[in-house]
Amino acid sequence: MLVLGIETSCDDTGIGIVDAAKGIRANVVASQLEAHKPYGGVVPEIAARAHLDVIDDVLAQALQDSGLCFGDLSAIAATTGPGLIGGVMVGSMMGKAIAAVRHLPFISVNHLEAHALTARLTHDVAFPYLLLLASGGHCQLVLVRGVGDYRVLGRTIDDAVGECFDKSAKMLGLGYPGGPKIEQAALTGNPKAFPLPRPMVGRIGCDFSFSGLKTAVRTFLEGRPLTLALVADVAASLQAAIADSVADRASHAFTMLKEEGLVVTSFVAAGGVAANQALCARLTRLAQENNVFFAAPPPKLCTDNGVMVAWAGLERFRLGLIDGLDAPARPRWPLEDLRRTQ
Ligand code: KG4
Ligand code: ZN
Repeated sequence: MLVLGIETSCDDTGIGIVDAAKGIRANVVASQLEAHKPYGGVVPEIAARAHLDVIDDVLAQALQDSGLCFGDLSAIAATTGPGLIGGVMVGSMMGKAIAAVRHLPFISVNHLEAHALTARLTHDVAFPYLLLLASGGHCQLVLVRGVGDYRVLGRTIDDAVGECFDKSAKMLGLGYPGGPKIEQAALTGNPKAFPLPRPMVGRIGCDFSFSGLKTAVRTFLEGRPLTLALVADVAASLQAAIADSVADRASHAFTMLKEEGLVVTSFVAAGGVAANQALCARLTRLAQENNVFFAAPPPKLCTDNGVMVAWAGLERFRLGLIDGLDAPARPRWPLEDLRRTQ
């Protein structure tokens, strides 16, 4: 069983091919970073055009890397949402076109589900598990009960955690995307240098909030010259504040599960922010305290890529979940709206 997956919902054009034995046969990602850099964030119109410019080459490269041809494939999966609609349409139309021409089943993949299931490709993770989904557009704690079966326990009430990294990095003059830049700068900084707030810590439930932290960074930086040492210390302090806040929220999620008598054996972190090694170290400790296994995909499978879409497609395909070529492109598509029979 071989599935090809196409990801175009934000600023990465990704095509991956995976097999049922968890083998990654191709993983090609073309980043649009340079195209968006002058604007300090992703510009939807530029993103859509850039996907169209490179997607044929990305596909050719993926087929070449894998040594496979269309005739070897069992199904085609593509992200059909949520995301920037222009890009989603580019990738899903390509997926549908291949499926139509080659008479292959088409699988419509929810981008969040693709992040959510990636740890089952890279680790031995069984359902049900607790998931922290942390990316540029999303921040939620989810009980993953099975493919297409999600219960959101808590989510951000304002900004996503990746947004907090990205906006703070901009204020620090570190550029976009901010997460990796902050992580790098933090390596030489003191995480205790500045007492930034720990949003939501101790609050009932497991919702997140990051806009106050972003404002605290802005207020703190006002009138201060951005020296290398200051940037490193603010980056380290911010990363520590985010890790404390996320760990507290996840710890509350464990409490909620225990109160309901629900047992999980794994805690999974996914989405671009799960590439952050300091955060993962903190979450590993939390998992140990709760006697569960911690898993996060390797950084290149945390940020957007085609392999995660191919894997989610494969998980669906082997359950017989295939979609029509009329599957819509959706800018908004919460995990809870997924049903096994979509
Ligand atoms: O999942 P993703 O690639 O795209 C979305 O679906 O949003 O996540 C991108 C986000 C960006 O906000 C980026 O700054 C953040 O993930 N990110 C990181 C790291 N690598 C990427 N945040 C913290 N530390 C990192 N190493
Ligand atoms: Zn993503």
